[in-house]
Amino acid sequence: RAIQLIGVPMDAGKRRRGCLMGPDAYRTAGIAETFASLGHQVRDIGNLAPDGVAPLPAPAHVHAAEETLGWTRAIAAAAKAACATGALPVFLGGDHALSLGSVSGVAAHAARQGRPQFLLWLDAHADFHSVHTTESGHLHGTPVAYVTGQPGFDGFPALTAPVAEENVCLLGLRSVDGPERERLRASRIHCHDMRAIDETGIVPLLEGFLDRVAAAGGALHVSLDVDFLDPGIAPAVGTTVPGGATFREAHLVMEMIHDSEMITSLDLVELNPFLDERGRTAQLMVDLAASALGRQVFDRPTRAFG
Ligand code: ARG
Ligand code: MN
Ligand code: MN
Ligand code: MN
Repeated sequence: RAIQLIGVPMDAGKRRRGCLMGPDAYRTAGIAETFASLGHQVRDIGNLAPDGVAPLPAPAHVHAAEETLGWTRAIAAAAKAACATGALPVFLGGDHALSLGSVSGVAAHAARQGRPQFLLWLDAHADFHSVHTTESGHLHGTPVAYVTGQPGFDGFPALTAPVAEENVCLLGLRSVDGPERERLRASRIHCHDMRAIDETGIVPLLEGFLDRVAAAGGALHVSLDVDFLDPGIAPAVGTTVPGGATFREAHLVMEMIHDSEMITSLDLVELNPFLDERGRTAQLMVDLAASALGRQVFDRPTRAFG
């Protein structure tokens, strides 16, 4: 497959700095060479920069709203351009606010192809706030709401193709704010918290979702937040939450994504290399991306999804 690496050195989505070093940490960990070794054609287009924008009306406690809007525009344009070449874009974050642009961009492309867009959100958090409901003022907590077309994003680009709520699956939840919980309950988004994973294992939860993607012939965007993982194996993130996915669960998720043959785009987000230990979180994220793009011990027959 043709893979396009898109560097997004973005820190605007929260106050703690360091995610802007993420793209170079992934390159240092050998992401391009790793994908190439799996037989893919890899093109690294370098790093994006935010568009310049006019002032945006946002509550005073919201951090870096204009800069985030500028990134959203630049990232969405890069996402559309990558998809138009037929490549699978991999967004090297940068914080999770980059998904305002990556998901809205790839969804616009899928709509032009007449394919429904699906979204798998691997994260401790739901990221379902709007600019007006966020308590922290951190816009990395908002992309799921934006891309599904919830209100409260005045001044942001109008969505050409909102992702249908029933096509979104949140997996790994263990930190959800009160107002976010109510909004999720009122939505058709599929939510699987860590308790669900404990009770049934991760396989049936993900299998149900991948079956729906395959049955619909959908495009599948996977958004992997470092804090999906347990802090014991992935310390390099500003929002650690105990009790996350294990090494083995995370690789299994990625291997099932590969076997489904449905993935069309990927975000690697929230890596803060300033908080890492000898690069081990960066390396783990690269290894997980490799599993999603075909690295395995033995070939498995393609699973009969759909
Ligand atoms: N719900 C919290 C907030 O709105 C945490 C969001 C964390 N998001 C993330 N992408 N790490 O601030
Ligand atoms: Mn997140
Ligand atoms: Mn998170
Ligand atoms: Mn479900």
